[in-house]
Order: sequence, then C-alpha cells, then structure tokens
Amino acid sequence: MGRIYDATWGRFFSAAYDGLMKSTEEAGMREIRRETLAGARGRTIDIGAGTGINVELYPEAVTELVLAEPDEHMLNRLRPKVPGWGREVSVVQAGAGSLPFDDDSFDTAVFTLVLCTVPDPRAALSDAARVLKPGGKLLFVEHVRSEDPSLARWQDRLEGPWRFLGDGCHCNRDTVASIEASPFEMEKVEKGELPKSPPLVRPLVHGSAVSERL
Ligand SMILES: C[S@@+](CC[C@H](N)C(=O)[O-])C[C@H]1O[C@@H](n2cnc3c(N)ncnc32)[C@H](O)[C@@H]1O
Repeated sequence: MGRIYDATWGRFFSAAYDGLMKSTEEAGMREIRRETLAGARGRTIDIGAGTGINVELYPEAVTELVLAEPDEHMLNRLRPKVPGWGREVSVVQAGAGSLPFDDDSFDTAVFTLVLCTVPDPRAALSDAARVLKPGGKLLFVEHVRSEDPSLARWQDRLEGPWRFLGDGCHCNRDTVASIEASPFEMEKVEKGELPKSPPLVRPLVHGSAVSERL
C-alpha cells in the first residue's frame, strides 16, 4: 500500500513540481537561487537536482555541471531538458550518500530544497564534502525549522502529514545545525522566507560553507 502510494504520488509530485513552484520562483525564490549560485565555479555538482530549476542560473564560472538525482520520476522530467540548455550538463541517477564520484573531484556542491528530503542529512553532507576538493564550496538554499517556538511546535506536529504530501520532505529540520556539525565551516548564512509558501516551510536559509576536509 505504502509503496503503491509512494510511486503514484512521486509521479504526480514530479509532474506537478515546476507548476507548484512557479509563483514561489517568480515571487523571489529565483533571485535567491541566482544570488546563492553566483558563488559556484569550476566543476559543480547539483545534488538532488529535481527538474533542473537551477540550471539556467549558474554563472559562466561553472565549467562543468553534473546533476545528481535519485528519483526516476524526477529524472524523467529532467533528462528531456538537457539538450535545450546549451551548456555542458550531465545527469546521473544517484543520491547524496552514495555519489558515484571520486574523492576531491568537484569545486562546488549545491543543495537547494534537498536537505529537507534526504533520508540522512549527516551522510549527505559528508558525501558532499568527500567529493569536494579541500577548500571546495557548498552552496545551499533550504527551508528549515522555525526559530519561533510556536511555529516549530506546529512543524513537529504536522511533520508526518507534510512528509506524505511533500514526497518525503521534513518541514522541521535544523539544517544550519546539520551543516555546522558536518565537515564544513559555515561561511555565510542569510535568513529569509520561501516566498508564497505555507508557514510550515516558510523559514528559509541560504548561503555557503567551505569543506574543511583535509
Ligand atoms: C523539493 S525537490 C528539490 C529539487 C531541486 N533541487 C530544486 O531546488 O527545485 C527535492 C529533491 O531531492 C531529491 N532527493 C531525495 N532524496 C535524495 C537523496 N538521498 N540525495 C539527493 N537527492 C535526493 C528528490 O528526488 C527531489 O528531486
């Protein structure tokens, strides 16, 4: 029952994703992405790339772009877009925690709206650090646990149903704490809001961190 539900909902979620995000992107999320991704350079991996919303926002300094995405429904939306992007982009079916790349092989790693969904944020961050060269950069845009205790309580209460609706998304994760506890040194964190979104997923953080792995 759960697996049939997951497969059906996953297909619907990926098909609806760009449409669901449209007003959020237009109301400011696209600019938050662009500003964050301006820090990308060299060989870059976008982990949990989804439908590829970030691709057109990467700066020229990105010399090679790899999109890693584990979900087959998302991949079905992502792959047909590649020829239209007019830049060197490769797509791999892989998730954070089991990225099929050598250690020290990327300059930049990106998570946007992904650390809320990965099964194990700690393993995902360690794997991102592993594939990054020492001193490589992590760029992130993530919705997070609220600093307002009342909203955080609602995020805890509604985490189960939201996870069902959001195709595995946890609305109550303290992602800044996860990054700070990982092999990254936080460089910059800005706090804001995910525009035109329900309160449960409105608190947003975006910024950068540097791999401290030697
Ligand atoms: C809300 S979507 C975000 C997509 C895209 N990054 C964006 O900014 O629009 C979350 C994505 O995380 C992916 N995901 C789930 N588990 C993952 C994992 N272990 N590693 C990487 N991505 C994962 C999902 O398949 C989905 O594409």
